[in-house]
Amino acid sequence: MATGNSASQVRSGEPPVFIEETGQKGADLDADRRGVISAALSSLLFPDRIADRGAFRALARQLDETSSCRVDGLWPDPLRRRLASEASRLAGRARLSHRVGRRVGAASDSHQYWLDRGPLLQALHHSPQLLTLAELLSGRPMAPFQAAYLYYPPGAYCGLHTDRPEFELQMLVHLRGDIGPLLLHPELASASAAEIAEHGGARTSGGGVPLTYPEHGVTVFRGAGIPHERPLHHGPDIGVVLALNYHAR
Ligand SMILES: [Fe+2]
Repeated sequence: MATGNSASQVRSGEPPVFIEETGQKGADLDADRRGVISAALSSLLFPDRIADRGAFRALARQLDETSSCRVDGLWPDPLRRRLASEASRLAGRARLSHRVGRRVGAASDSHQYWLDRGPLLQALHHSPQLLTLAELLSGRPMAPFQAAYLYYPPGAYCGLHTDRPEFELQMLVHLRGDIGPLLLHPELASASAAEIAEHGGARTSGGGVPLTYPEHGVTVFRGAGIPHERPLHHGPDIGVVLALNYHAR
């Protein structure tokens, strides 16, 4: 998805910076932010209002069988725009990550930026709506673990890896930029590092099950059990994805 005139810049090794004026500063922004968060989250639908329990059992089954599923229709477009705006505003504080999760194979490094801050990000992560969704899909009590904005300037990528065991259930939301899908490799779920190296080592593109993003919802997957990768992002925009992680209570 193109982002129109959302001009952005990044220099090698420096955090991504979006050239975008919010038009507000200081206390006014803080006061407004509280109202924005409250209003934005009030538009977030409870899962049981958008589908019956049978539909969620089917999604839970799909998650069990394939390690991923998509849930659309959770929020209207303004909420996603507000999240994208917060991600852009805070982008200069993002940190570069050279390693993520547990490496698989011989060369599972990464080049991506991440930031686990943001009042709207945190409010969304702890919202009863998404917690309900996590529990419906996993079938047990869950708790928020970690949330982050992930930034992919041109040249960013994420090598083949599995996530930390605490990342039991992940929800991804695409916020901006024409970024390609995450690729899952279920065929490598039980392969040893040596076996993967025999088959060409950590991959950077090609193959895999692409995880695409719904417009108004989340892509759910279990990254701790399935090796996955993000191929090289060619740009020209900075891609931004939001990741919400939940674990069992
Ligand atoms: Fe991951």
